Amino acid sequence: MDKKIKATITGLGAYLPERILTNSDLEAMVETSNEWIVTRCGIEERRIARADEFSSTMGARAAQTAMQQAKITANEIDAIIVCSMTPDYLCPSTAALIQNELQATRACAIDIQAACSGFLYGLSIAKAWIDSTVFKNILVIATEKNSAYIDYKDRGTCILFGDGAGAAVVQKGGPGYAIDYVSIGADGSEANLIVIPASGCRMPASEETVKNGDHFLKMNGKEVFKHAVRRMEAAAKECLDKTGISQEELGWLIPHQANLRIMEAISKRFQIPWERVYRTIHKYGNTSSSTVPIALAEFDAEKAAKHNEHLLLVAFGGGLTWGASLLTKVDA
Ligand code: COA
Repeated sequence: MDKKIKATITGLGAYLPERILTNSDLEAMVETSNEWIVTRCGIEERRIARADEFSSTMGARAAQTAMQQAKITANEIDAIIVCSMTPDYLCPSTAALIQNELQATRACAIDIQAACSGFLYGLSIAKAWIDSTVFKNILVIATEKNSAYIDYKDRGTCILFGDGAGAAVVQKGGPGYAIDYVSIGADGSEANLIVIPASGCRMPASEETVKNGDHFLKMNGKEVFKHAVRRMEAAAKECLDKTGISQEELGWLIPHQANLRIMEAISKRFQIPWERVYRTIHKYGNTSSSTVPIALAEFDAEKAAKHNEHLLLVAFGGGLTWGASLLTKVDA
């Protein structure tokens, strides 16, 4: 592997709302059971934001923790990339709201939308900006208030999703997690598999759309499942091929937390022992783009990785979109 100083995650943070929605709460809302949700998905509970908590406020909280860890002040941030499929508004961007909340007055601010793969897309952009010396200090924030778009009468989706935010500071050089490679991809021909129909100019909100529940997320879970493993596997393989790291050298898998069975399938394909697959799905469910940075922040807080150990991140989501990244832990 090349020895040049790399774009590196130097600080991590997560924010989870306090309110817990358990499987037994859901049993009282839709025709489902704790047993079905645990065995089919691996989820026991998820967090739900308060009415006065938004993607912007949760994202700012996660970012503050990440900046503290990176020992960087808001004034030093050059760019804020927010990944969210549940932004506060279509305009202004959630990134601009967070810029103001943090008082990061020097930073440019941009939202990107790649559904659950958003954080990997954000990392890819941050790495390119660092490598090309455009910026020095970048915040990549993934934040989702999924509960605002979930139909709590639809058992195919309401059992899966939760709210939360994760953030990373990306700089040149460590200590932290060097970003060796990021692979991202998309297949728009399958865009219909995960859609919020009345969320843009194609179907402007009206009395009719509200009556039909078109402002809620619709998902063909079975079809999504089929694509997820294949696409994440290919993206992960690209990371290994481009870096020259072998499957046997992988220390940890930190996957998108959408379904425990998808995570198991990926760990088997790469022969990563189950105890080396970092999991938060049981307690937070699927927080869309936030799952990977939340898991990475909690993993980091446990100081589980050793110097030079390799981590594989993988994610998949609406679009369809997918991504993978190979990171290497670098101690001071
Ligand atoms: N509780 C109880 N039963 C349920 C249920 C629920 N919440 N949801 C579906 N079922 C039932 C179905 O009606 C069906 O019953 P039937 O056999 O009598 O028709 C049965 O369980 C199996 O349904 P199916 O849709 O085949 O379940 P599944 O094993 O595919 O699991 C998902 C459904 C959504 C959990 C799963 O497909 C999944 O996780 N997909 C990927 C989703 C994903 O990753 N999305 C996000 C990308 S970011």
